[in-house]
Parts: sequence; C-alpha cells; structure tokens
Amino acid sequence: MRPAIALIHLDRLRDNFEIVTSHAGHANIISVVKSNAYGHGLHIIAPELHRIGCRNFAVTEASEGARLRDILGPDCDITLLSGLFDSHDAELCGTFRLSPVVTEQLHIQWLRDNRFNGSVWLKVDTGMQRLGTTELKSLHAASQASGIGIAGIMSHLACADTPEHPLNRSQADAFSHLCSELPSATAASLLNSAGLIALPDQTLDFVRPGLALYGAEPVIAEPLGLKPVMEFTAQVMQVRDIEAGTPVSYGATFTANKNMRIALICTGYADGLPVSLSNNGFAEHDGALLPIIGRVCMDYCLLDCTEHPLQTGQRVSFWGGDILKPEQVAARINTIPYTLMTGVSDRVHREVVTNPG
Ligand SMILES: Cc1ncc(COP(=O)(O)O)c(C=O)c1O
Repeated sequence: MRPAIALIHLDRLRDNFEIVTSHAGHANIISVVKSNAYGHGLHIIAPELHRIGCRNFAVTEASEGARLRDILGPDCDITLLSGLFDSHDAELCGTFRLSPVVTEQLHIQWLRDNRFNGSVWLKVDTGMQRLGTTELKSLHAASQASGIGIAGIMSHLACADTPEHPLNRSQADAFSHLCSELPSATAASLLNSAGLIALPDQTLDFVRPGLALYGAEPVIAEPLGLKPVMEFTAQVMQVRDIEAGTPVSYGATFTANKNMRIALICTGYADGLPVSLSNNGFAEHDGALLPIIGRVCMDYCLLDCTEHPLQTGQRVSFWGGDILKPEQVAARINTIPYTLMTGVSDRVHREVVTNPG
C-alpha cells in the first residue's frame, strides 16, 4: 500500500466533543459530518460520535444522509443542511428519515408528493445572503397544512470567526425577531463552531459545530484547546545528498545554496497536499520542522533534511502532529483549514488510531 496516510485520532475527537459540549450550555449538539466528515471518513467519525452519545448529525444532502442512516441505524436525527434538490431527494427523506432544511414552497410540494411525514428545518437568512427563505410564515403554514413536522428554525453566521464583527450581533437580533414569528416552542439553532466563541449567549436549543470537532481552532486568537483529529502523514521513499547549485523538482524553482541532504516523500497534490506549500511549508518529524523544497508534484514532494537526517521508511506529518496545526498551515498559504481537511483525497488511506477512552 502506498503509505500516504491520514491518521484519525479518535481520542482527540472525543476530547473535542467534550470541549464543544462544555461551551454549548443547554443546547444539543448537531455534529456536522458533511463532506465525508470534513475529509476524515464518515464511517469512522459518525459511529464514534454516536458511541459517545451524540444523537444529532448534519450532512449536506440526501444521498449523504442515506449513507449516514445506513451507518448509524435508526437511533439518531439527520439534518440535510442544503435541503432538497429534486423530488427524488424528498423520497429519500421519507425512506431514510432525514430532516431537510426547506426554503421554498417547491420543497414542501416535493415532500407532499412523496407523502413525507417526518420533519423539516425552516432555514432563514439573517445577513449572509446565502441559503434561506424569505417567506417564513407561509412556509411554516404550508408545512403544517401538509402534515410535515417542524424540527426547528435555523440560520447561519457569516462572520463568527471574527467575534468582534458587528454582523454577528445583528444576525442574532434578526434571528431572534424571526423566531418570534413562530410558535414559542419551536426549536432554534444559530451557532456553528466559531459562533460558540462569538455569541456564547446564543446557544439556544441546538448548536451545529463541524470544524471544532475535527480539532482546528475556529478563532485562532481565542483557542479552545482543541486537538487535530487528522494527522496527514506520508513515508520517506528516498534520501539523497545533492551539491550546491543543484535544481530541485518541476520548474527548478529551488536550487540548493549549499550541499544538502534531501528526502523524497510519497505524497503530493493529488493526495491533498496543497501546491501552494511549494517552497513555503514544512513537514514535521520527531519534533523537527523540515522545509518543503521545490514544487509539490502530483505524487511526491521533497524535503530539506540536511539538519535533521531522515531515513527511508520513516514517516513525516504535514499537519496534525505535535507542531503543525491545520489552522496554522492554512493561514500560511492564505486558505482555511476546511480546505486542507476536505482536500485529502480518496487515495489516502484513513487509519484509525484508537487510544482507550
Ligand atoms: C449551515 C451550517 N451549519 C453549520 C456548519 C458547521 O460550521 P463549522 O464547521 O464552521 O463549525 C456549516 C458549515 O459549513 C453550515 O453550512
């Protein structure tokens, strides 16, 4: 097997879930496990969260929800954050007991056509200009008239990772106003991971963390003490000495300025190692940081291991080890940790690390 491996640390997942719970007040946790549990493997993450007591999950759409139902069985609620794309999705919601968000009368029509008798989330936009209904009351009325239950009302924050941003409070106020248009017993959900930090008084009935469960700090300046669940690792394939003046990798974007020892690693951009780390990032081994030199290739990258000699067969990690945090690696290349996690491709083996607990 090609040893480009994402180690999935389930003990860290459990710790992160506990930390998130401690910031959630009386709210229930809806664990967001869309996009294959942010690249970690839905079949690995969801059963562990279920095992430690989580009973609410969210994915993007119906086929993902059906897969999750197969994995977890009947004893949990599954929300579809992007709702329905066609009538067949509505049928899947009935078959697999999924709760879609709805934003249009058409969604209710599809559900009615398929004799759906479960429940839906009413999704409102409160300032992000993304998914949300503009006809809350009539959507609520149409759902009820069709015998469809209301799981609750939800909205999503645009700037939660900047806690001081005024849009956070203005979205919370708008949400509170919209909630007051519905019967007072209607459950409400506003916060994602960063929202727990930005608006701690708005935990309401349900919170919807994703990123924090996977252990990237949603607000770097206000760390919660999370630990990365994924450690993105790969093995050393070759080590060689090169002389000063030797060019390295495609485009010869790196030239040795001294005699060097370099290591070839069996991971590249087709595994999810961003090309933007070329000449601009590190791998970690045994407490040492080794610069990535030259351009990251499809299947390989190269490290400068002059100061910290590596050997064939050793394993380095690109994030999620002791030093390199996913949010820091992401910031270095002007991206967000979500893209690192979800960018780890299918050909990378997910290896579960089970420490007791
Ligand atoms: C509607 C909704 N809720 C919750 C989340 C989870 O957000 P985060 O991963 O930032 O906690 C997302 C993620 O994109 C989302 O779209």
